[in-house]
Amino acid sequence: MTKVTVLGAAGGIGQPLSLLLKMSPYVSTLALYDLRLAPGVARDLSHINTNSTCKGYGKDELQAALEGAHVVVIPAGVPRKPGMTRDDLLKVNAGIVAGLVTACARFAPNARILIISNPVNSTVPVACETLKQLGAFQPGKVMGVTTLDVVRAQTFLSDALGADSYSRESMKKHVTVVGGHSGSTIVPLIANSTLRAKLVSRRVYDAYIHRVQFGGDEVVEAKQGAGSATLSMALAGFQFTDQVLRSIHLEKPDPAPLPAFVYLPGIEGGRELQSKLNTQAEYFATPIELSRGDVARVDAKWLDSLTDAEKKSLAVCLGELDTNIQKGRRFVKSKL
Ligand code: NAI
Repeated sequence: MTKVTVLGAAGGIGQPLSLLLKMSPYVSTLALYDLRLAPGVARDLSHINTNSTCKGYGKDELQAALEGAHVVVIPAGVPRKPGMTRDDLLKVNAGIVAGLVTACARFAPNARILIISNPVNSTVPVACETLKQLGAFQPGKVMGVTTLDVVRAQTFLSDALGADSYSRESMKKHVTVVGGHSGSTIVPLIANSTLRAKLVSRRVYDAYIHRVQFGGDEVVEAKQGAGSATLSMALAGFQFTDQVLRSIHLEKPDPAPLPAFVYLPGIEGGRELQSKLNTQAEYFATPIELSRGDVARVDAKWLDSLTDAEKKSLAVCLGELDTNIQKGRRFVKSKL
């Protein structure tokens, strides 16, 4: 019996994400919470003929939505409009995330908390620092969802190489993304040297990296003020949640685990990664090893085979990332 709660479930990401979760064989109870419309969205989904039950909770029902949850997914918060960076969202979204994780600490203290709300580079530190203040922080249970960067990195690699010969789905094992989740903190790593060489020889490597880092802007512009990625993000959020659910249900892990943005000092292998990266940044997105749905170890194998170009991207990432992290930290301190 596994209960998943979505906070912000009536939004652009929340609705399709909830639909995908309603299809999951690993979910028995789906709880949808939002300040608006959640009972309606849940009633709609509850007519779907999969085995899970689905219930919606309004503004004053956060406790009931959270109680008994094994996994809490948080896509609550405002999205970007054209001309905005993810950083511009911090003022509003930091407060939303801090409030919601405080409720998690009270009503679902052992739930895994998956944070989608942007800017992830700062909202994850906001969540972790808030939980620390409450004496309720379990580092392996808080994960920033950066999967959309991985999904884009794979799709755009296939696009750059020619989708006829290099199918999108076959790109899964060839590329992952580390670092953070905004602009140049996003560091795509192409593991397959032949594919990487092809991009370089066709002089499209730099354009490819730039597209992965700033691909979100394409969607923000195309939606003309109506928000940012929602459908591709719902799929990415589902893929990540599915990875966690499979681990809870003791399924064999994927040989190419998805990364998450996590608090390194609290996780096995994290301090080693931090020292190899030679960085103050305590939060970083890297492939994770899960045990019963919690992050048990972080993987640093990718560090051994970096190209000069990737090392350069990583250096730029680390310069920016710690500033984002400190903004999240300062937000929590300022509330004390
Ligand atoms: P949206 O505006 O369509 O939906 C957000 C929902 O959150 C709304 O239904 C709103 O009522 C709800 N909400 C606001 N405050 C709440 C609270 N305190 N408790 C519960 N619900 C609350 O926005 P959208 O497009 O779904 O995006 C949500 C967030 O996800 C944004 O911050 C966006 O930047 C972020 N995002 C993250 C990505 C990632 O890769 N991690 C990718 C794309 C978007």
